[in-house]
Amino acid sequence: MLIALLVAALPLTVIGSTFSQPDSFLTTEQKMDFVLGKSLFEKLWVSSPSSTTASDGLGPLYNARSCLQCHPKNGRGRPTEANNPADVAASMLVRLGLPSQAPEPNYGSQFQTRAVQGVLAEGVIQLAYTPVTVTLDDGEVVTLRKPNITLTQLNYGPLHPDTQLSARIAPAVIGLGLLEKIPEEQIIARADPEDTNNDGISGRINEVVDFKTGEKRLGRFGWKAGQPTLLQQNSIALFTDIGISSPMFTSGYGDCTPLQARCRQLPNGNSAHMDNAEASGQMVALITTYTQHLAVPKRRIPDVQKANIDQGEALFSQLGCQNCHTPNFSFTTDKAQRKAISIQPYTDLLLHDLGEGLADHRPEQGANGREWRTAPLWGIGLAGMINDHRFFLHDGRARTLQEAILWHGGEAEQSTRAYRQLSKAQRQQLIQFLESL
Ligand code: HEC
Ligand code: HEC
Repeated sequence: MLIALLVAALPLTVIGSTFSQPDSFLTTEQKMDFVLGKSLFEKLWVSSPSSTTASDGLGPLYNARSCLQCHPKNGRGRPTEANNPADVAASMLVRLGLPSQAPEPNYGSQFQTRAVQGVLAEGVIQLAYTPVTVTLDDGEVVTLRKPNITLTQLNYGPLHPDTQLSARIAPAVIGLGLLEKIPEEQIIARADPEDTNNDGISGRINEVVDFKTGEKRLGRFGWKAGQPTLLQQNSIALFTDIGISSPMFTSGYGDCTPLQARCRQLPNGNSAHMDNAEASGQMVALITTYTQHLAVPKRRIPDVQKANIDQGEALFSQLGCQNCHTPNFSFTTDKAQRKAISIQPYTDLLLHDLGEGLADHRPEQGANGREWRTAPLWGIGLAGMINDHRFFLHDGRARTLQEAILWHGGEAEQSTRAYRQLSKAQRQQLIQFLESL
């Protein structure tokens, strides 16, 4: 009913492309770069050697052949279907590592499920779910599902016994250039690592290495805020997800480990006219422009729902959701012009311990195995309309917004408890508010 009303407010053709519009403030030149960046984001890479040297270099190990395959319509990805390892259309990846944060010796830092001809893929991701029931205070029972991930058909020997896994679905890629512009001091000002104000919520920054300067910087991107800039996020995506080198990560064999000797010996696509890489600096810059300027759609607040949505917004604040999902940031960009902007991302970009239920037990630079970056909520209500699926949280375990809320533990335990105490009508109002974002 709710979805039907929202859909009625927007023509269908517009909905499918709402995450693909450029920011309205782009200059003509920036718009041209945006269009070129879009074509690179959608480009299907091919293996080397190939007659099309501008597109070769795929793999040898890879998870997908284009950015778009995991970020369909710039929206969110989905987990592999339960008990269906043949489901290769999934847009989920599994990161690997040892407690020291070194890569897994045989398989590297990510589990690649595909490979070019001549080498074997690393194996298959097998996903199963265990039901977990939660009883709300009014007696309603909600069944959540907890994922169990197994890596099977391992083609390069057993995994190191201390291997830590982290499964993640691809997030939507809207509004990221705005998140990149939030001044560091505003984010740091909200951190409260020792919880000195005693509200049960700490919030830490993830300090990560900026490969461009070699220095530590505030992490902003990825589910654990592991990447400081979009340039770096995109370069890593090219490298580990598609197997494409670029000026920041130059080896043509991607995530192949020294033990995957055959993989390292195959021809790669590094070439002088591409800055000795498979994707040139200019190509990565264009992809970065694209990911910096995908606009955030306007909120949808039909008149008939306005009262409920307002109530839901009040609950969002009463329940303490906004202690992490910061509704608003205002700052000036472009110092000379002093352009003031105000954005509503519903994230503080900080790390929070969300408890054992969501923990992946795999640290990522400054983030520990229980911490996650507050997910931005802008655009979340459109998730099911952009893509034909709708899964929430880092590994896509939540099938509804309510399930996503009920998984919050740790620092968000108080919020979740307060949510469980709401009446059914209030719960619907809160969800209606989220759907309007
Ligand atoms: C195999 C699937 C896959 C492919 C292919 C892929 N991504 Fe991603 N992308 C992800 C996942 C999963 C994450 C979250 C990563 C994390 O938590 O560290 C992500 C995160 C991102 C982010 C950060 C979003 C945020 O909210 O912080 C950007 C930007 C991005 N990808 C861009 C790209 C670009 C550009 C490409 C192509 C060069 C690409 N991705 C290819 C799966 C993929
Ligand atoms: C202590 C900080 C904190 C509080 C309080 C909090 N959240 Fe979150 N929220 C997070 C983090 C961190 C994530 C990402 C967790 C993950 O992916 O495992 C998240 C994820 C979500 C998601 C899923 C987003 C996505 O893209 O999949 C929704 C929806 C959400 N929160 C809504 C709420 C609501 C509603 C409340 C209040 C009832 C709330 N949150 C309270 C930190 C918080």
